[in-house]
Amino acid sequence: MDKKIALLQDKINQAQLGGGQARIDSQHNKGKLTARERIHFLMDEGSFEEIGMLVTHRSTDFGMEREKYLGDGVITGYGTINGRLTYVFSQDFTVFGGSLSETHAEKICKLMDMAMRNGAPLIGLNDSGGARIQEGVVSLGGYADIFYKNVQASGVIPQLSAIMGPCAGGAVYSPAITDFILMVENTSYMFVTGPNVVKTVTHEEVTSEELGGASTHATKSGVTHFACANEIEAITHVKKLLSYMPQNCEETAVHLPYEPSDESRPELNTFMPENASQPYDIRDVISAVADPDSFLEVHKDFAENIVVGFARLAGRSIGIIANQPAYLAGVLDSNSSTKAARFVRFCDCFNIPLLVFEDVPGFLPGTDQEWNGIITNGAKLLYAFSEATVPRITVITRKAYGGAYDVMNSKHIGADLNYAWPSAEIAVMGAKGAAEIIFKKEITSAINPQEKWLEKEKLYSDIFANPYRAAERGFIDEVIEPSQTRLKLIKAFKMLENKVVNSPRKKHGNIPL
Ligand code: HXC
Repeated sequence: MDKKIALLQDKINQAQLGGGQARIDSQHNKGKLTARERIHFLMDEGSFEEIGMLVTHRSTDFGMEREKYLGDGVITGYGTINGRLTYVFSQDFTVFGGSLSETHAEKICKLMDMAMRNGAPLIGLNDSGGARIQEGVVSLGGYADIFYKNVQASGVIPQLSAIMGPCAGGAVYSPAITDFILMVENTSYMFVTGPNVVKTVTHEEVTSEELGGASTHATKSGVTHFACANEIEAITHVKKLLSYMPQNCEETAVHLPYEPSDESRPELNTFMPENASQPYDIRDVISAVADPDSFLEVHKDFAENIVVGFARLAGRSIGIIANQPAYLAGVLDSNSSTKAARFVRFCDCFNIPLLVFEDVPGFLPGTDQEWNGIITNGAKLLYAFSEATVPRITVITRKAYGGAYDVMNSKHIGADLNYAWPSAEIAVMGAKGAAEIIFKKEITSAINPQEKWLEKEKLYSDIFANPYRAAERGFIDEVIEPSQTRLKLIKAFKMLENKVVNSPRKKHGNIPL
């Protein structure tokens, strides 16, 4: 038996070494951790249990039968993160560049099936040269098997993708289907075709970093939700993100213990600038209202005119969507609508209540927006809010103009409670523009058109630049002192915690993609 145990130990040692010490050193020299080190930092100490350590590839072309590594380039298994069951796969770049073979794919698919069956999140740590070139179509099939399972798991368990190295070709589509992507600055990149192909086809000269690095995807494309300074930061973010989520779609996120205290926030009563055109940072309002230091902003550097992220309110996990007056006056455009819609849908999938802070001057006009589909993109946000069945509350802090009033979680599309601060202005448009249109004749024929315009602007403003017309109709449930916002929200979310909505029977809706 001793010999047999020694053989087993020998195999385990072999598997631990992946593609060998020289390749591990090369990985470290690039400033990257190995697949096993990443798991070590991600999972609770001693909790990780590996599955499929002894799997090898079945390829026989190109002399591949003579080059086999135990585990075949991906470490799969389960363990706990902050005490909660989590499944993880971690691609090992030291084995054929982490490339995906038939068996590598099978290991990931097996893990996904387990994660779905047992209702726990799946984390993918991606570091791969893509399809295992020596295996041809078998590898492509393996990718497609993963994509299919990603879709099956979507909305059932949270799926998070951390990109720790290359991620090229069709390989990008598995992360893209998952709920959140995190990238590491300077050592990870994602693109469908790399710089060489780009140069051949479009004659553009671009580096990997410019084409598909973390900063590019965090700011320009919005493909990644987080750009992290290094791998440890990415792993820390994964853990933090998970802490706001339930294990699966049947559960709610863990409520942290909370001691009630003075929930009034007097500083909010003097927060709003006197001039309605003056910007302010909505994050200051979020910080004042949410539990201290609980806000985790998602997609921070993309479409900054809307702020989205997770926070806690009296220990309860919530998703926040807030127009940002400090950036483009908080206007809604294509990117901000798409960004917010995706976030709303994630929260709704996983029973995370939604809180909206609204200060929006409307949709952004212009050919760029119209030709790039602001109609379809704006409709995504409208659709996402309308179909969400989680508790939904809106606080209008200042402007709620035009179609954006309807879209931003209005009562009419199913919000449960809509509050407004006394500074709210709820109207079809700003008073200046409105006066110009409806009093055009009077203004142009006046002896002093400018004076007349100001007079009519004031008239419109007196009637509509307040929350009371909407409150008279019941479109606003209560006009509240800003200082009371936190208290009201804590009570309201508690009141809504058993909310049930029976949606019409259907196969699935058809969100305007
Ligand atoms: C097999 C691969 C591999 C691959 C890398 N390797 N990619 N083996 N299949 N796809 C191996 C290398 O031979 C090398 O082996 C080791 O991994 C490390 O690779 P290096 O090139 O030395 O590393 P580096 O300089 O860091 O470059 C990494 C890289 C480069 C940028 C990823 O290897 C690369 O461009 N690889 C090919 C990428 C690619 O075209 N993949 C197919 C994409 S199409 P040794 O033995 O020397 O350690 C695709 C389709 C998916 O993925 C479709 C799904 C629908």
